[in-house]
Amino acid sequence: MPNARAASIARTASIARAASKACLRTAATLATAALLVVVGPAGAAPAAGDGLALTPPMGWNSWNKFACNVSEQLIRDTADAMAQSGMQAAGYQYVVIDDCWQVSRAADGTVVADPKRFPSGIKALADYVHSKGLKFGIYSDAGTGTCQKRPGSKDHEAQDAKTYASWGVDYLKYDWCNAEGQDTRDSYQKMSQALRASGRPIVFSICEWGSSKPWTWASGVGHLWRATGDIGACWDCKGNPTDDGLGVTTIIDRVQDLYPYAGPGHWNDPDMLEVGNGKLTPAENRAHFSFWCLLAAPLMAGNDLKAMSPEVKEVLTNTEAIAIDQDPLGMQGRKVRHDPTREVWMKPLADGSRAVILWNRGKEEATIAVEWSDVGLAPRTQAVVRDLWKKADAATVSGRFEAKVAGHDVAFLKLTPKF
Ligand code: GAL
Repeated sequence: MPNARAASIARTASIARAASKACLRTAATLATAALLVVVGPAGAAPAAGDGLALTPPMGWNSWNKFACNVSEQLIRDTADAMAQSGMQAAGYQYVVIDDCWQVSRAADGTVVADPKRFPSGIKALADYVHSKGLKFGIYSDAGTGTCQKRPGSKDHEAQDAKTYASWGVDYLKYDWCNAEGQDTRDSYQKMSQALRASGRPIVFSICEWGSSKPWTWASGVGHLWRATGDIGACWDCKGNPTDDGLGVTTIIDRVQDLYPYAGPGHWNDPDMLEVGNGKLTPAENRAHFSFWCLLAAPLMAGNDLKAMSPEVKEVLTNTEAIAIDQDPLGMQGRKVRHDPTREVWMKPLADGSRAVILWNRGKEEATIAVEWSDVGLAPRTQAVVRDLWKKADAATVSGRFEAKVAGHDVAFLKLTPKF
């Protein structure tokens, strides 16, 4: 994926240039934002035809923490942990094995799971996950091989889709390595049709790193599409060769303009969560999770659920934050005000309230205010301001609300107007 990475680095640079030119937004921009609140963006389209992923999918994926170190034991233990930790009760559903479960193809072309790591076979594993009331997901690639050089699905789409359906697969993440010369749209369309033809409802997660701007074509092909290169467990790395991937802030900047394309059944995917991984601080974990909720992002935990600290579990299972992500209106939030270190973001919700993030990108504590005009409320409107991390009402006020926010942290708020 070096090309995808180079393209996304170039995109970040142009976004950064644009951002540095702007200071606080003009009144005209704010008026436009207010109008959007009323009419909604073009992309908050009606539900997709197959009724899947009407809210962003929630679950866990093996890649961010375990990479190729996957096994049936890990998946079973993770399903147990998902049930026991409160993650399942908070809404997490899909347990997804990423790359490296597959090793070869049998003489008849059927894909073969690694017999050492998955001795009971994938069907038995899916049955186990289902027995917990959870759903089961798997990974393949549109090219000849996966990114870790395992068999890809090119020219085996129908056969693989049938195999997955017979195993009880509920979710397929479909990557884009070793696909040189292939047409992106055709390749994803082919697997999309094969999954439909399999007769089993399977959520289709497109993973071509945003290279072909899938937000412009993939609604109706897949239920979610990656919008960027791989995330890393770091705050603001830029995807340089020595970085682990793209940091949380880099990804937020890259997806900020994609809000018109998200809606029920078709989501921008800023990649799986790194909450609880790497060196993210408690504030950074909170900010990362808050943003993924405000962005209506798929919430695929990427940490070791068997060994979560209480602090990490508290972030991942904050049901008030998750309710923002899962709001049935399905709008992706957007930035409504910013200066170099302080930003205000807003997501309209189905009940007429607004989720708001006051984001301190700087290192020192800062006071950040949301003006009612930023979020499409008349200045005189009284609104209850709920603090979603303190899980308490902070005020009932009109006009504006301000809070002190620690460095790299957020205040995640819900503003409910009293009409
Ligand atoms: C990347 C993908 C990652 C992970 C990895 C597996 O292309 O973006 O999320 O799936 O491949 O090799």
